[in-house]
Amino acid sequence: VRAAVFASGTGSNFQAIMEAGLHDDVALLVCDKPGAAVIDLAQDFAVPTFVFDPKHYDSKADYESAVLEHLRGKNITWVFLAGYMRIIGPTLLNAYPDKMINIHPSLLPDFPGKDAIGQAYEAGVSTTGVTVHYIDDGVDTGPIITQQKVSVFPDDTKEILTNRIQQMEHKLYPQVIQQLMKSEQ
Ligand code: GRF
Repeated sequence: VRAAVFASGTGSNFQAIMEAGLHDDVALLVCDKPGAAVIDLAQDFAVPTFVFDPKHYDSKADYESAVLEHLRGKNITWVFLAGYMRIIGPTLLNAYPDKMINIHPSLLPDFPGKDAIGQAYEAGVSTTGVTVHYIDDGVDTGPIITQQKVSVFPDDTKEILTNRIQQMEHKLYPQVIQQLMKSEQ
């Protein structure tokens, strides 16, 4: 069983996955943002990367076909999105049905989409959280695997809340990934 992680940015979840002992299970990092910090992290952990710029392809189907070729080349069976800022299209979804997972920093179905932490903060909720879910063709709409609550305190800044949520993500995501991959061996 081999996994790929898809990421677009900082890569703190990618790092947490690596540091949780999943290093041998992750055979590829896919990144759609040349220059993203997560690429350096992958190099530090000696994880092969496929970095592409969607602008250089005519369509989503084209760049997803290129991604798919790399996934197949490494015999990838699971795909874990960790801050990958693109909607997955049918090319990849059909190739990995029920095998693509995402982590989202809210209690879905509340606050889907971008800046979920900011949305929850502005809404003034006293509880938010983290969701791990299967990918479908919507934005943060796929079947939920697990959720963890995170409290919001009255004197929290958005930054403090962000840190608290990220700590929960870094704990939860590697655990779920481990379980999913184990269930298949
Ligand atoms: C995380 O909050 C994740 O839930 C969301 O994007 C963020 C990625 O952060 N989908 P990082 O790149 O893993 O630091």
